[in-house]
Amino acid sequence: MPRLAFTRPERYSLIMDILKRTCTCGALRKTDAGKTVVLNGWVHRKRDHGGVAFINLRDRYGIIQVVAGGQAGAELEALCAELRNEFCVAVEGLVRLRPEDMVNPAMPTGDIEVAASKLRILNRCETPPFPIDEESTAKEELRLKFRYLDLRCAGMQRRIRLRHEVSFAIREWMIAQGFYEIETPTFIKSTPEGARDYLVPSRLCPGKFYALPQSPQLYKQLLMVAGFDKYFQIARCYRDEDARGDRQPEFTQIDIEMSFVEREDVLAMTEGLMGHVFRKTLGVELPPRFRRFSYTEALERYGTDKPDLRFGLEIKDFGPFAERGGFQAFKDVLAASGAVKALVVPAEMMGKAPYSRKQIEALEAQAKVYKARGLAWMKVVSAQNGGVSALEGGISKYIAGADGPQGSLAQDLIAALGAAPGDLILMTADSQRKTANLALGAVRSKLGRDLKLFEPKPGEPARFAFAWIVDFPLFAFNEAENRWEAAHHLFSYPQEQYHNTLEQDPGAVKGDLYDLVLNGYELASGSIRIHDPHLQKRIFAIAGIDDQEAEAKFGFLTEAFKYGAPPHGGIAPGLDRLVMLMAGETSIKEVIPFPKNSFAEGLMDNSPAEVEPKQLAELRLAITPPPSKPE
Ligand code: AMO
Repeated sequence: MPRLAFTRPERYSLIMDILKRTCTCGALRKTDAGKTVVLNGWVHRKRDHGGVAFINLRDRYGIIQVVAGGQAGAELEALCAELRNEFCVAVEGLVRLRPEDMVNPAMPTGDIEVAASKLRILNRCETPPFPIDEESTAKEELRLKFRYLDLRCAGMQRRIRLRHEVSFAIREWMIAQGFYEIETPTFIKSTPEGARDYLVPSRLCPGKFYALPQSPQLYKQLLMVAGFDKYFQIARCYRDEDARGDRQPEFTQIDIEMSFVEREDVLAMTEGLMGHVFRKTLGVELPPRFRRFSYTEALERYGTDKPDLRFGLEIKDFGPFAERGGFQAFKDVLAASGAVKALVVPAEMMGKAPYSRKQIEALEAQAKVYKARGLAWMKVVSAQNGGVSALEGGISKYIAGADGPQGSLAQDLIAALGAAPGDLILMTADSQRKTANLALGAVRSKLGRDLKLFEPKPGEPARFAFAWIVDFPLFAFNEAENRWEAAHHLFSYPQEQYHNTLEQDPGAVKGDLYDLVLNGYELASGSIRIHDPHLQKRIFAIAGIDDQEAEAKFGFLTEAFKYGAPPHGGIAPGLDRLVMLMAGETSIKEVIPFPKNSFAEGLMDNSPAEVEPKQLAELRLAITPPPSKPE
C-alpha cells in the first residue's frame, strides 16, 4: 500500500481543512457578487484601516482585494495581523460589490472585493530582497539570484506567458503546414564552426568528449536524407561566446528544414509563420511579404546587414560631389577606389536645437569604433541674401571650394541629398568601401537610439519592421589565420552562376543565404544547402579542410549524402530574440526564465561550480592551476 504523505493527526486535520481554491484571483467580476469563493495566492500588499485589513491577493491570473475585519472574529483578525507581503495564503469569503467610492477602475477586479470569513497561512515569507512589483528595479545580480521572486513581477509573468503563447502558435502553424516536430541529440560530436563548443566529458570513453550542439544543423540535414521532408524543432542551442544583450550561452531556436525547396519556398513559409505568430499572440497584422534587400544594398543604404527599418535616414553616395569639391582627403579616398558616404539628419529629427559640436563628436567616436578615421560634417543654412540654401561649418568651405558655400556644387549636393536648411550632413570616407558604410551605419544606429527614431508616434501601435537580407557572400576572409572560411556555415549552397569560378575568386561568390531582420536585429538565418558530395568537397577545400579532416569532422554527413540526399534548405529564427522584440525589450534575459549573467554564470544555482575530486577522477580529468599573473 502506498504510504500517505502526512500521517500525523495534526497534519491530517490540516489537510482536511485545507481551503482548496474554487476560482482564481483574476477571474471574479461584478456578476459574481453574492458567491462564496475560496482563493489561493500571495499577499501582494496589505493595508490596515481602523481594525479592517485590506489585502491585495495575487496569483498568475490577477489581483483581487480581500477585506478582513469588522465582524470577522478574533481568530481571523489575529491571522491577518501576522500577514506580510508574499505570504502564501488561502482565503474563503463572500464576493461583494465595493462601495461606489471604493471602486478602482484601474483593476479588472476593481468593482468587487471578497469579504474574508476564513484565512489560512499556507506558507510564510521572509522579507523579499526586493518588492514584487510591476517590474523589479533591483540590480540585475539580485534579480538573477532570486529569479523565482523576480519572475513573480507582473512584467516577467506577462513576458513568460507571451513566450508560451508564441511557442504554442509556432507549433500550431508548423504542424498545420505538415511539419513534424522531431528531437535531435544534445550530446553530439564537436565540429569546427562558428562559436566555441561546450564540451561534456565522457566517463565511459575517458579522454573523449561530446559537444552540446550550437544548433541542430547537421542533424536536420540528416533528417532530410532520412526522408522526413518537413522538420521543425523548438531546439535548445549552446554556444560558448561572449555575452551581449541579444546573446545567451544557452538559447532557443525555431529550427526548420524542408526538402525539395528553393529559397522562395523557405522565405514564404517563414513569412507565413511570422504572420500567424504575430496575429495569434499580439493581434498584429504583418505584411504578407517582407521587404527584401541584397547584402550589398543593405550595406550601401543602411551601413549594416541588419538595418532598423522603423526609420528612414538612408545613407547616400557622396562620391560625385567629393570628386567635384575641393576636399583633398576625400579625393584621395576616391583615387584609392574607396567610398565617400553621407547621411542627412533632418532638422526636425534633431529637435529644437541644432546638433552641437559635442554631440557631433560623440557621433564621431561611434564612427571610429567601426574603424572610420573621422566623421566629417557640415550644416545646411538659408542664405541671408536671397533665399537659396548654403553650406556652413565643418568641411563646407573645402567642399564648396572656389565656388563658394552657395555655389553650384553646394546647390547640386543639397538638392541631390534632399537636404533643407537646419539639416546636418555627416560624411565618412575610406579606401575600404565597407568601412565607410559600416561606420556611417553605426552613426545612423546611434542617431536612431539617441533621438528615439524607432518609437511609434503617440497613439500609434508598436512597429515591427521585417526585412529579408539575401545574396550574402559565401566566404569571409579570416585575416588572422590568412584563410577563407564559411561566412554562415560550410553547408550553404553557392549560387549557380559561381559554380565554375568558386576556387578562382572565393570572395566574389554569393551563397543561397538569407537572414530575416526585425527592428535592427538578426532574427533568423538560413540557406539552401549543398546536397552534392562533390560540391561539398570543393567548399571544404576552399575553407582549408582536406579530405582527411572533412572525413574526421563531418564524415557522417558526407557519407549520408552518398545515399540519395534530396535538395533541401532551411532556416532558424531565434525564439528568445523574437519574443524579446515582440515584448518591446532590448535584452533576451527579459524573456528567458532562468538566464545566465554576462559571465555565463547562473547566479541562483552558482553554476558553473567545482566538482568533487572523485567525479574528476572518474572522468580521468585533472584541473591545472591558472597561469600565474605577471608582476
Ligand atoms: P545562426 O547561427 O545564424 O544559424 O543562428 C540562427 C538564429 O539563432 C539566434 N541566435 C542566438 N540567440 C541568442 N543567443 C545566441 N547566442 C544566439 N546565437 C544565434 C539568432 C540567429 O539569427 N543552423 C543555422 C540556421 C540554418 O542555417 O538553418 C544557425 O544556427 O536569432
